[in-house]
Amino acid sequence: MVIPSLIQHKRDGHALPPGQWRELIREYTAGRVPDYQMSALLMAVVWRGMEPEELAELTDAMIDSGDRLRFDGFAQSRVDKHSTGGVGDKVSLLLAPMVASCGVAVPMMSGRGLGHTGGTLDKLESIAGFRTALSLDETRGQIERLGCAMLGQTPEIAPADKRLYALRDVTGTVESIPLIAASIMSKKLAEDLNGLVLDVKTGSGAFLPESDRALELAQTMIGLGLVRGCPTVALLTAMDRPLGRACGNALEVEEAIEGLRGEGPEDLMEVTYALGVEMLLLVKAARDAPDARARLQRSISSGDALQKFAAVIEAQGGNPAVLEDPSVLPQAAEVEVYRAPRDGVIVQVEPRRIGRAIIELGGGRRTIEDEIDPSVGFVIPAQPGETVRTGEPLASIFARDQTGIEAGIAALREAIVIGEEGRLTPLITHRVTADGVTAPNPRVG
Ligand code: URA
Repeated sequence: MVIPSLIQHKRDGHALPPGQWRELIREYTAGRVPDYQMSALLMAVVWRGMEPEELAELTDAMIDSGDRLRFDGFAQSRVDKHSTGGVGDKVSLLLAPMVASCGVAVPMMSGRGLGHTGGTLDKLESIAGFRTALSLDETRGQIERLGCAMLGQTPEIAPADKRLYALRDVTGTVESIPLIAASIMSKKLAEDLNGLVLDVKTGSGAFLPESDRALELAQTMIGLGLVRGCPTVALLTAMDRPLGRACGNALEVEEAIEGLRGEGPEDLMEVTYALGVEMLLLVKAARDAPDARARLQRSISSGDALQKFAAVIEAQGGNPAVLEDPSVLPQAAEVEVYRAPRDGVIVQVEPRRIGRAIIELGGGRRTIEDEIDPSVGFVIPAQPGETVRTGEPLASIFARDQTGIEAGIAALREAIVIGEEGRLTPLITHRVTADGVTAPNPRVG
């Protein structure tokens, strides 16, 4: 295959002929296509998009680039959740043990930070010893024993996506509906699931900020799931401000543990419950939405979800003492409070700026090889719509040194906009199924 011609073809807005995506993915995974050619092609896709047939072929080729989890003979239903990426989004850390405590198996396969967004794997790895690199056999064994495993993409699952994901992260080629859809669905469809729930973010901190594009992404992924035998439902949730208060790997683990103790911030818990309700409904583990919500709430009030998380941490080599004593998590050397520079109303807490600042502080990657510092980040209790007075604490910055603190202050000055009027937009705006778009399930309990 002549790669420059394929790049030119896509650059000029044409679909690649049938079979070309499959061959390209095979050659790329085998190391016979260099990253510079692949990134040029990806950039052409960002601009020109893909036809549905191309997307289907790309997704299948990415699934077939590796192996699959297999649950033959396993009676329990399996369901997973995936987010399109956000800032402060630690929902997976709560949701996997909560849903597993309700008797539904959760092989939660997550990713690393991508662009300005955080990744569940990076968060989990801030727990000393936690091993996210489980093999397929280990994953199946742990699912059989505990009903829950929290892992990274194994080398066997969609290896093509693993390479492409890392490449897109550092080449400005994340923001594309077909590339995001193929990336997410190739991993999820290799998990042998009975259902999948997608958290599709909208707003300035999402990869696709406009809600019509987010909706298109949701529908694209639902279509890919449906045709491949995996019922898929999506919620569109707000990412025009960070989710919860903590942003940064270890800080987010701490907040997730608070959530599992029943002390999580309201917005984080609302999104977590809403997604959990969909997960239980998809595999018919609850009668209806109120029943599903009650089961999830019981998983917290009974302590079952916390215990499940402890069992998962222990099984995967992590230090479960973190649940009792979060100070065993990596601690930042410097902490400073950021105060309101003026009186007014908070107009915006801009998540993309916060996400980029976490990278500047060392908590995310600039290049594929970067090691991250799990201790750094922000805790931002301030929310749009709140009235503040000059000097009132709005956020805390956690950094390695004074240079980091100064970068954090500069970021917060830009991210937290104070003006005359502001309001919190609705957290969950759409529920998308194969049958269409509806309002989300009403909040119950
Ligand atoms: N999450 C993924 O797994 N892939 C993307 O491309 C974006 C978010």
